[in-house]
Amino acid sequence: MNLAVFVSGRGSNFQAILDSPELKDCVKVKAVFSDKLDCPAFQIALAHSIPVYSVGKKPGYLQYSDLSGKLKENDIDLIVLAGFLKLIPENIIEEYESRIINIHPALLPSFGGSGMYGLNVHNAVYNSSAKVSGATVHFVDKTFDTGTIIAQKCVDISDVSSPEEIARRVLKEEHILLPFVIKKIVEKKVRRVENRVFLDP
Ligand code: GRF
Repeated sequence: MNLAVFVSGRGSNFQAILDSPELKDCVKVKAVFSDKLDCPAFQIALAHSIPVYSVGKKPGYLQYSDLSGKLKENDIDLIVLAGFLKLIPENIIEEYESRIINIHPALLPSFGGSGMYGLNVHNAVYNSSAKVSGATVHFVDKTFDTGTIIAQKCVDISDVSSPEEIARRVLKEEHILLPFVIKKIVEKKVRRVENRVFLDP
């Protein structure tokens, strides 16, 4: 299965995909897209000889109108948003229906939406007094963090003393959950029935 990974920053989830022994023989990251030319995730891609594309409105960037063509050129089966901070254009959402997934560092539908990224999420969770947080992988629709949920992993945060500690605990689980879901998709073990998703063993 050919993957396109969209990133904006550090790229640790992208790295987790590359490092996953379960995914090694069944997925190929064909291209990495980012709205930020200088993001560390691009360096990871370049170190693995994976083509990178900066996408956006800036001159010299791949324009959003050309994104569909670039995905087709690379024969992309699945788009993975791994820390990508921009909305995916509607035409791509329609073309790749049920073939775009995102990882979010909290238990959706709480603590999601516009502006809910990075430490903003973990600050909000910390200040909410919640005892659990976690990671969510969901299908992507036309708005931030509202798509149908595929899988979640809870993390006990009852004893944390900072938002940063929540971030560390959740990130560890993200690195397990995202490759797990991708593998399920590869194995065609993800079934969407109306607004619920079933993962077959
Ligand atoms: C992760 O916490 C992910 O859940 C969120 O953005 C962060 C990206 O981190 N969508 P990284 O770039 O994968 O390290």
